[in-house]
Amino acid sequence: MSVNGIFGLPFYHSNIENRKLLNDQLYNVYHQIESNNGFDYYPGYSPSHLLSGFQKNILELYDCSHFENEIRKHIAAYLRDIRSDVTLDNTDHKIQAWMTVNKKNHYAMVHSHGTTDLAGVYYLKSISKGGRIFFRSPLKQLSNSRCFTQIPEVITHTPDEGKILIFPGWLEHGVETSESDDIRISIAFNVNFYPTIKENK
Ligand SMILES: [Fe+2]
Repeated sequence: MSVNGIFGLPFYHSNIENRKLLNDQLYNVYHQIESNNGFDYYPGYSPSHLLSGFQKNILELYDCSHFENEIRKHIAAYLRDIRSDVTLDNTDHKIQAWMTVNKKNHYAMVHSHGTTDLAGVYYLKSISKGGRIFFRSPLKQLSNSRCFTQIPEVITHTPDEGKILIFPGWLEHGVETSESDDIRISIAFNVNFYPTIKENK
């Protein structure tokens, strides 16, 4: 007999190995945004980090074909691993992506991606100090009992270049303060499948 974790959280992490073409394309996007209107702070929030335009989709605005092809492979692997009957081939869907730049002292408050089915992030440029992404456990009730306190309430990931993470859109997460003079660049993405569960009922 043994204790098994039930209600496991489907969390995906992988590394994009052959990423030169993809990264060159994304750096090109970065420079294009810089030379256009530049990056903006999230409207209505404290100036915590810079975004490639609020609610704009870089997959539609710029040539991100190598990046889009690569993340589609990882989204497909995620759906396969969780044995979903949804695939990118059999279900209508939309992928939206945006670029985030964290300079020194930038961070991201704890948030979720709301009703988005899947959320993900790819790290284009890492930093040496700070800037880790952290995820809050959705099993908050565990901390009410003394015997479960060794089970972490927060899991962190360093923003290593080439790393890709995919997780349910409702999972709460944030980014620790950057302590580096270098900039940290990541590309976040949302995946939504249609019709949604609500529309389907
Ligand atoms: Fe996020």
